[in-house]
Amino acid sequence: MSDPLLTRTSEALLGLVDPWLFLKLSATFIPSTISHIFRTESFLSALRIVLFSPSRFREAWFGQFWSVAGPGVRDGAKVRVLPLLDGRTTGGRVVDVPTGPGIGGVVIEIGAGSGLWVDIFSNRHLRGAGEGAAGEGEEGGNRAASARQEITRVYGVEPNPEHHHALWHAVDDAGLLDVYEIVPVGIEDLSSSSSSSGRKKWDGNIEPGSVDCIVSVLCLCSIPDPQENIHELYKLLRPGGRWYVYEHVKVRYSWYMRLYQRFLNIFWPRFIGGCELCRPTEQTLRETGPWAKIDVGQPVDEPWYHCVPHILGVFTK
Ligand SMILES: C[S@@+](CC[C@H](N)C(=O)[O-])C[C@H]1O[C@@H](n2cnc3c(N)ncnc32)[C@H](O)[C@@H]1O
Repeated sequence: MSDPLLTRTSEALLGLVDPWLFLKLSATFIPSTISHIFRTESFLSALRIVLFSPSRFREAWFGQFWSVAGPGVRDGAKVRVLPLLDGRTTGGRVVDVPTGPGIGGVVIEIGAGSGLWVDIFSNRHLRGAGEGAAGEGEEGGNRAASARQEITRVYGVEPNPEHHHALWHAVDDAGLLDVYEIVPVGIEDLSSSSSSSGRKKWDGNIEPGSVDCIVSVLCLCSIPDPQENIHELYKLLRPGGRWYVYEHVKVRYSWYMRLYQRFLNIFWPRFIGGCELCRPTEQTLRETGPWAKIDVGQPVDEPWYHCVPHILGVFTK
């Protein structure tokens, strides 16, 4: 029989090393990113991007990397995200019975990426709806207990053009072409009120107070100026509207893990498309404006050596 102390120690060591392996995996996509840029751009423009445009190179790199790494991350996260959108989480735990309403109505998906989560907006996930619907218990526990309502519109906000092709295909595959609109800008350009320059990059407009639900899955780590932009999103929610969050955040539990996360974060954003590890996202959301109810927490199964801890839950305006 193996020594439990030895098992726990090796698990912890692996947990501490794991993020570096993720960075290494990302680095292996640099050559294929360069060849992708030269295949899809004219020679001169490709040269310009590779040599002089770090932001465009980073977008292309992340697009290549996420098309391979993203599905694995989604598969690990869906046992939490599906119950979250069903209304079945409390204190960061997944539970069998809804603790509040699930998603429905007009929804914003922030940072839709390559569309890995698009299918979750299909009304087939409504309780009792059709084949493969909530109720089969196949993903994330007892889906029969979903408290979702019908989704009438989804704005999928994604500024990285590298993702748009895959995102459109995901929308088509999910049968959502008439419901899901790809918004090809950052959240900072969503509504006329949020355009600081007075000029907008997107023709559409989302009126303040008109949105029923916001869904943010692993994306508030990548947005610019979180305080300001989270507040702009808050203004778009109607009173009673809900913000469903599954985000990785700053470590809170011990000084040495905080230090370790900060050290890792010297490299992480450079390799993972600008993703920041040390954001106090829960606090930013709490302080952005008055909430009628907040039910968030860290998933209980995340161990102390987790350098990328999460928050899971719902903010109700
Ligand atoms: C780690 S990826 C996650 C993508 C997707 N949510 C998923 O789980 O597959 C973060 C996403 O946030 C997007 N993002 C970056 N800046 C953004 C902004 N200003 N507004 C909205 N999304 C942004 C990135 O382009 C990227 O697709």
